[in-house]
Amino acid sequence: MNTPFKAFIVNKENDQFTSGLQTLALSDLPQGEVLIKVHYSSVNYKDGLASIPHGQIVRTYPHVPGIDASGLVEESSDDRFKKGDRVIVTSYGFGVSHFGGFSEYARVPAKWVVHCPDSLTLREAMAYGTAGFTAALSVLKLQHQGITPESGDIVVTGASGGVGSVAVAMLAKQGYNVFASTGKSQEHDYLKQLGAVEVLSREELSPPQFTPLGKGRFIGAIDPVGGNTLAYLLSVMKYGGTVACTGLTAGSHLNTTVYPFILRGVSLIGVDSVECPMSIREPLWQRMASDMKPDNLEGFIGEEITLEDLPAVFTRILNGETKGRVVVKVSD
Ligand SMILES: NC(=O)c1ccc[n+]([C@@H]2O[C@H](COP(=O)([O-])OP(=O)(O)OC[C@H]3O[C@@H](n4cnc5c(N)ncnc54)[C@H](OP(=O)(O)O)[C@@H]3O)[C@@H](O)[C@H]2O)c1
Repeated sequence: MNTPFKAFIVNKENDQFTSGLQTLALSDLPQGEVLIKVHYSSVNYKDGLASIPHGQIVRTYPHVPGIDASGLVEESSDDRFKKGDRVIVTSYGFGVSHFGGFSEYARVPAKWVVHCPDSLTLREAMAYGTAGFTAALSVLKLQHQGITPESGDIVVTGASGGVGSVAVAMLAKQGYNVFASTGKSQEHDYLKQLGAVEVLSREELSPPQFTPLGKGRFIGAIDPVGGNTLAYLLSVMKYGGTVACTGLTAGSHLNTTVYPFILRGVSLIGVDSVECPMSIREPLWQRMASDMKPDNLEGFIGEEITLEDLPAVFTRILNGETKGRVVVKVSD
């Protein structure tokens, strides 16, 4: 079988950057034990970076971006997977150092593949995607710190984005009192529908000046924003609070002091979805399909697009203008 198929390719030759749909053959795909017919993918911030010349995500060209995919196994030389299995691929080198999900077919190492839980459709799996998995991992990290719904208020920043919106809904579903911070005044109702008890403006959590220790407000925080917002959050955590740091949409620099750590016992915890081991990943996907699953997972899908629509969405995700998750319908 060597059917031609469609894929979105980025390329850089002699400093000339190009991107767009091309036709590939299965023999163009990288090595791996599992060949997948991709049904859905999704657009993450990292995919936006992979689509621009200096995004510092892609190392070798030509490349197929797309860090998420769900679909059906077409062929497998690994016993754990057989033709027709419903599977999810996210993380590791997928869409970064290895051809990714913006392609009708993907071939990957079996050790990257997760069986899609029965109670999750392939579309719902991509309503989650890497962003949803990262949100779930962040919630898990707060819970490992002993933070329960009774412990106090939790805040989620970048709340209208992929990681943020799923985190708000997952925390609310589990009974936490969630404050959501957003830069989009038009999304306050949406965030309340997801379960936020209160919506805060982006500015309120990123003041230009603040003292090293302000009044303690939150016992937990999930922060995909970073930069000055993360520095401020640390200063307003309650005694024993935990901030789960997941991203850098507002910047990678962190200008803080030691006071929250040494005077309030605050913990700053890193969240990495990419190298998260399978021993955590697989059981977490099962929880994402059961007790952690928000009532209306489809409600996260801000828009569903096709491979042809990708360039316009890349621009908007890099400008922080998308809402919730963008699902890509790759093939039937
Ligand atoms: N650690 C990991 O494993 C991991 C996994 C996935 C993603 N990430 C990182 O997490 C971050 C968010 O990813 P995502 O997929 O949720 O992206 P996203 O859908 O684009 O959402 C990011 C949100 O951040 C807010 N934002 C954008 N620009 C901002 C700015 N200049 N200042 C403050 N807030 C800003 C916006 O929300 P509001 O308008 O609501 O404020 C935006 O919707 C990215 O940095 C991504 O690389 C990390």
